[in-house]
This record gives sequence, C-alpha cells and structure tokens, in this order.
Amino acid sequence: MSQPKYKTVLVDKENGITWVTFNRPEKRNAFNPTMVYELEEIFLDLETDDETRVIVVTGAGNSWSAGMDLKEYFREGDANPRTRFRSYTSMERWAGELLSMSRKPSIAMVNGYVFGGAFIPVCNADFAIAAEDAVFGLSEVNWGVIPGGAVAKVLVDTINIRDAMYYATTGETFDGKKAAEIKLVNFAVPRDRLRAETIALANKLMEKNPTVLAYTKQAVKAVRQMSYNEALEYLMAKGTALRFADRNQTRDEGIKKFIDKKEFKPGYTAIKGKDAD
Ligand code: ACO
Repeated sequence: MSQPKYKTVLVDKENGITWVTFNRPEKRNAFNPTMVYELEEIFLDLETDDETRVIVVTGAGNSWSAGMDLKEYFREGDANPRTRFRSYTSMERWAGELLSMSRKPSIAMVNGYVFGGAFIPVCNADFAIAAEDAVFGLSEVNWGVIPGGAVAKVLVDTINIRDAMYYATTGETFDGKKAAEIKLVNFAVPRDRLRAETIALANKLMEKNPTVLAYTKQAVKAVRQMSYNEALEYLMAKGTALRFADRNQTRDEGIKKFIDKKEFKPGYTAIKGKDAD
C-alpha cells in the first residue's frame, strides 16, 4: 500500500515489485528539490529491502516527468546555492548512482511526457518500456541550456550519436514508438498494455536467482567504460566474487543438474517451450 511518508512520491509494494511513482501530476511530475531528496531516501531504503525484488519507476497522471522543475530547481536554485548544491547532488545520487548500480533490477515504465532531466532515470534504469503515445523531448536547447547534469552522457551511452545529436540540437519531440526504434527504450506497447507488459518483464526477472541477476546487471553496465583487457580482469574477479556471494550456489547446482542428473537444459527449453521434456 502507499506510504504517505513522502510528499511527492508514492511507494507501493506488491508481489515482489516496488512501484515508485513520481507524484506531482499537477506539475507534470517535474523534479523539484523535495522530490529528489525523497527519491534519494527511497532508493537508499529499497537497496536493502527484502520485499523489493524489482523496482518500477513511473509517473502519476499523464506525465512520466517533465524534467527539472524550472521554477524551484532552476530559478530558485540559482538564488540559493545551498539548495542548488543539495538538489543537484540528490538528483545525481538517486538517478545516477543508486538507480543505475542498484542490486535490484529496475524498469522505467514510461506512461507520458519525458523531458530534459527525466532522460537520466529513463537511461539509467536497466529497462524501459514506453506507451506508444508517450512523448519524449530533449528540450534543453529551447531553454538556452545544454543537456547537462549527465543528460548528454547517459544519452550517448544509451542511443547512437546520430539520434542523440539530432534530438539534442533540434529539441524535436518523438513518441514511444520512435523511442523503441532508436533503442532509448526496450519496446513500446499500446497504453492499455503498459502495466501488464511491465509486470510480465518483472516476473521474468524474478524467476532468476537475485544474486546472479544483480552481478550480471552490474557487470554489463560496468564493462562499458573499460578497455578490453580491463573488462577481462574485472569479469574474472566479478565472476569469482559471485561464486562466494551466491549462497544458493546456482552455478554448481545448474551444472550438477545438467551433467549428472540430466534434468536441466535451459537452451533446449528456450527453443522447445517450457513443457519440453
Ligand atoms: N518545471 C516546472 N513546472 C512545470 C514543468 C517544469 N519542467 N513542466 C510543467 N510544469 C507546470 C506548469 O508550469 C504548470 O503549472 P501551473 O499549473 O502552476 O501553471 C503545470 O505544470 C501544468 O503544465 P502545463 O504546461 O499546463 O501542462 P500541459 O499538459 O499542457 O503540458 C508539458 C505538459 C508538455 C510537459 C509542458 O508543461 C511542458 O512543455 N513543460 C516543460 C517541459 C520541459 O521542457 N522540461 C525540461 C526542462 S529543462 C531540464 O529538465 C534540464
């Protein structure tokens, strides 16, 4: 159930999924200082919350998030260096570090508008699913600012440079279908299927061993910044660390079932369907 603890965010837990909902629909869920402070606290809590297997981030009303709050974050922040520093730091911590490198898999369920700074959590979530009619816009250029606060960085780490350049410099908006085509999101679905498709992906993730999943997602993200040789070294160490961290010993169990008991063929099952024997 919703915890009324937060003014600008709803947190609902159901069947292993924790739904984090930006909740300023009257301001199109623009990120004001209160919201980024609350999100930082929420993501710190979720990291060690046993009920949370998958995190879904979404928005109340017709907007996912209209980006940074132009009044409270920009104009008032300019006049108050302390607020500006704290809110910049909290935004970076929740949408950068905590969301991106969490042990829990995350899905951005994009239900509507995504502008400016809202690209950061869309790109940093592990997966993104959009409604086909969601609206995306790198609108910074229209406000006389660059796609800063990590927007340009997460963008080029997610989509190709041609699309990044085109949309950053023109500020042209695009819909969920286009977002899927340029792989800003994994896929786009009709609005009435958005929640069901998100739950289906979350359930698929929850079938995996959570420790193996955490190490896998962290490894895939971390190697992007490494040279080939660094990645080899890192992956060797990460794989070894997983053998100690995985208390269910998924690897040894899987090999035992495959080699000795002959009762586990994940590749074969994937081709023939779950009922294959
Ligand atoms: N910052 C502050 N307030 C905002 C923002 C924002 N980013 N976006 C919307 N609001 C407020 C509006 O000022 C308005 O407030 P009011 O009712 O007190 O006048 C309220 O939210 C509703 O906004 P409307 O424009 O009336 O809603 P509408 O549904 O017609 O349009 C839309 C929604 C398209 C999102 C429009 O509000 C918009 O273009 N917002 C700006 C989006 C943007 O460019 N964001 C990027 C900022 S730069 C950055 O993030 C780095």
